[in-house]
Amino acid sequence: MELPARPTLFDFHGVSMTKHFTDNWENTQNFKARPDDILIATYPKSGTTWVCYMLNLLYFGNMSPERQKSVTLNERVPFLELCAPPRPKGKDLADQLPTSPRLIKTHLPVQFVPKSFWEQRCRIVYVAHNSKDTVVSYYHFGRMNSLHPELGDWSTFLQDFMEGKMVFGSWYKHVNSWWEKKQTYSKLHYMVHLKERFSLPWRIEIDRLCSFLGLFPSAEEKEKVRAAVMFDNMKQNKMVNGSTVQIMNHDVSPFMRKGKVADWKNHFTVSQNERFDEDYKQKMKNPTLHFRTEV
Ligand code: A3P
Repeated sequence: MELPARPTLFDFHGVSMTKHFTDNWENTQNFKARPDDILIATYPKSGTTWVCYMLNLLYFGNMSPERQKSVTLNERVPFLELCAPPRPKGKDLADQLPTSPRLIKTHLPVQFVPKSFWEQRCRIVYVAHNSKDTVVSYYHFGRMNSLHPELGDWSTFLQDFMEGKMVFGSWYKHVNSWWEKKQTYSKLHYMVHLKERFSLPWRIEIDRLCSFLGLFPSAEEKEKVRAAVMFDNMKQNKMVNGSTVQIMNHDVSPFMRKGKVADWKNHFTVSQNERFDEDYKQKMKNPTLHFRTEV
């Protein structure tokens, strides 16, 4: 299949976007959410696939083993605002989802979320990942994904990230405004991705998530989910590892790349790190929102 030409980034109501996420705007905004829909919201490269798969297993892992083996995660959890023909539009896939509840993914900043999600008081799971690992992951993703605009070298990309010139805009504004929303919208569960993975905190994390969702899996079911969402297992799983997505070139960089915290140390120079930290302090003034960049 011929790869599409890379799109250009433009300002869309104050947020940098590309046509692949704005072309179906009216339809997306008019999406009719149902009260039991669950929206999974993230800034790109923050653990979206991980949490989509986790929720999918928690809800449907036992019910349909066949579906787990034959339907990709992208179809099970449609990407609401995606509009990249010839692929089906995310909004249409979400409309047609046969499951209940419907799990729907978005990268939209909070102010762009279709209003029916708020009106229907839907549960929302937001996942954020520390800025340094997010920008590294986004850089490699941009290299391998032809839906992403042309990108310069690493140092240009890092500067663009600091200035919010990324698809879906500024990471700083995204994580902060979703955090603010959580203070007034009680049906929002804000998770910090992979803060401390798969040890005791994993059990606390999954128990909190299940309690928010109103689910009560047995210890055995939770263990099954824990094992399935381990990085190495997801990397091998063709239904979740992106290997069926034709616009991605995994030879350039795999979609399931490293799955580590603190890989940024292999990319940031000392001076880039100092500049980044200085800028971060100016933009992240809320002391209640804290991310770990070390394991
Ligand atoms: P890296 O590029 O740093 O490896 P998203 O799903 O939002 O696109 O996020 C992608 C990032 O999450 C990638 O980070 C990917 O490797 C990582 N990831 C995906 N599944 C994971 C898992 N089960 N455990 C740890 N990291 C995971």
